[in-house]
Amino acid sequence: MSTRWPLAPPRRRCCSRRARRSPAASRRASPPLPSARRGPAARSARPPPGCSAISRATSAVWCSPWTEDSVPDALADAVGTLRLPARIHVGYGVRQQIPALLAEHGRRVLAVVDPFLATSPDFVALLASLEATGLEVTTHTGVLPELPVGSLTASAEAVADTDPEVVLAYGGGSAIDAAKLIATLLAHGGPLSRFYGENAVPGPIRPIVAVPTTAGTGSEVTPVAVVSDPDREMKIGISSPFLVPVAAVVDPELTLGAPPSVTAHSGIDALVHALESYTAAAVPLDWTGQLPLFTGRNVLAAPLALEAIRHIAPFLARAVRDGSDREARAQVALGSLLAGMAFGPTGTHLSHALQYPIGAITKTPHGLGTGLMIPYVLQAAVAVVPSRLAEIDRVLGGTEPDDSVAAQDAVDRIADLCREVGIPSSLAEIGVEETQLEHIAELALNSKRLVGISPVGADPGVLLSILRAAHSGHRSLLDSSVHRGR
Ligand SMILES: NC(=O)c1ccc[n+]([C@@H]2O[C@H](COP(=O)([O-])OP(=O)(O)OC[C@H]3O[C@@H](n4cnc5c(N)ncnc54)[C@H](O)[C@@H]3O)[C@@H](O)[C@H]2O)c1
Ligand SMILES: [Zn+2]
Repeated sequence: MSTRWPLAPPRRRCCSRRARRSPAASRRASPPLPSARRGPAARSARPPPGCSAISRATSAVWCSPWTEDSVPDALADAVGTLRLPARIHVGYGVRQQIPALLAEHGRRVLAVVDPFLATSPDFVALLASLEATGLEVTTHTGVLPELPVGSLTASAEAVADTDPEVVLAYGGGSAIDAAKLIATLLAHGGPLSRFYGENAVPGPIRPIVAVPTTAGTGSEVTPVAVVSDPDREMKIGISSPFLVPVAAVVDPELTLGAPPSVTAHSGIDALVHALESYTAAAVPLDWTGQLPLFTGRNVLAAPLALEAIRHIAPFLARAVRDGSDREARAQVALGSLLAGMAFGPTGTHLSHALQYPIGAITKTPHGLGTGLMIPYVLQAAVAVVPSRLAEIDRVLGGTEPDDSVAAQDAVDRIADLCREVGIPSSLAEIGVEETQLEHIAELALNSKRLVGISPVGADPGVLLSILRAAHSGHRSLLDSSVHRGR
């Protein structure tokens, strides 16, 4: 994926300068490895002074670019960025706002709708209310799974004559992403490939009112859309602030019909968005120039991410077990929205970078892959961002006062939740061969905007360690000495 953001920007300099660390942080730093467990690789890759993040992974030792205690002054805790729709409504009944929100932008409406939902009673009722408001609606249902780029071009050509003033995106992440890209093509012409990567969309697109029916990708508030291109091995992102919808309407009523597997996969993905947003590395930003899409950890996103976890984790298994549980549906829908608001500006990191090639190889859903990888990614981060993970543990109900113990507890709780909602716990279970791991690691490193905000320094050795642990299903392979269990 092309990007203007160099891989792991000046962060590696942390290894050549003394990190700022509090006395408390020094006490928390990992103890030295017992010499018997240090292999040749470990000796040759001894971390430089000032780098406190040491992995005891079987095949790699790495140092985090920045630890929690070594964030440069310019990234002090009071710096933040949000990019959001001008209107966001959430809760049962808020879908009644849709006609008025659309009418603010014009009379000619293009409704891009998930084909399965186009005949659902909720959508039929919505269409009737739009027509009653005097809106002229063209309904387009040509949303194909995985969003092949050719199908989007064909969709834009098919609807161009209607010259819509506003686009209604109605469905899961696929329908909302399709609407974003059709709206981009209508505004700027094709081919879509010229917008691949970051900040390549030259200006505003047709305004979008986004209505998710899954909880969820957060696409209703994010600057991202993901497509598949037959010329590329993996799905590819188009990311631009111009892709943020003008309004998001999150009505949990619309998620009540989602089947258990869709609920589980999209719900875990929402949780992963929040977890990766909250554990993202802080990155240096040049405020005089164009900002990267994903700006890393920031003070405005952090509380949103924690709130998202608080709303999703206790309710997701209930929503999967009983899709008609209105309270669970409402909590997960709210959490998914908050997670989207958080990760839109910060970005996500390694579970997502690794899911793209894993999804391409195994043809498994996005959320299944990110949910499978998250316990392993966070396990690798336990020694790097202990206080962040400890905070997550407390949100999940933990009471352990020691950050390093609580951090491990958080990872264990998240792994338990993934298992409870049916996420496979190893790459072997979904058909990945051990011989494919190196290639997956190489491909994941191409997602520079994602690996660039990883809290653990992401190089092929690190990714391979995480992948080997995930392949075997044993997090203990990553770092047995800090794995205490619960
Ligand atoms: N733009 C972003 O920020 C972002 C973030 C994460 C993922 N994504 C993308 O989103 C896509 C996944 O989206 P998703 O998980 O929402 O699934 P989806 O939109 O692909 O839908 C999955 C299935 O669920 C069905 N469905 C959706 N809502 C339903 C409902 N209420 N009742 C019954 N069936 C329903 C759909 O018809 C479809 O068959 C992937 O392409 C992924 O790459 C985008
Ligand atoms: Zn995701």
